[in-house]
Amino acid sequence: MEKTFLMVKPDGVQRNLIGEIVTRFERKGFHLAGAKLMAISTKLAEEHYGEHKERPFFGELVDFITSGPVFAMVWQGENVIATARHMMGATNPRDAVPGTIRGDFGLTVGKNVIHGSDSTVSAEREIALFFKEDELVDYPKLI
Ligand code: CMP
Repeated sequence: MEKTFLMVKPDGVQRNLIGEIVTRFERKGFHLAGAKLMAISTKLAEEHYGEHKERPFFGELVDFITSGPVFAMVWQGENVIATARHMMGATNPRDAVPGTIRGDFGLTVGKNVIHGSDSTVSAEREIALFFKEDELVDYPKLI
């Protein structure tokens, strides 16, 4: 079953949006395979966002994601990678339509509440970066 990595960013955690966000994915029908509230080290942040290393906002991105606790999650279900991206909305909350997470709660491209893997390759990479295998569960039979 397909899995993706989703993370409530420091702004979402501080604004008490963990429950709201978890509820949206549960109600959609996805299953939570792992979750933890954690602080991200600079090393982990730089690795996670490695593809943006040359971007002018890289320093800002690393500073922000390490500025407070995040809620890291693995979700599983049919087409969960693409569907979660639809549910999150556009990266820039200015362009995210109402009804999406960023459309409803985000204000700026930096503080955009949630991160989600954009492909099967990045989902596998990000899950392995944040979770050990024994921190994840498998659902033998999905309803
Ligand atoms: P995310 O999905 O976590 O992946 C990369 C992040 O870079 C993205 O969300 C944005 O929060 C952030 N980002 C993209 N463009 C900018 C920008 N111009 N300034 C600051 N952050 C940005």
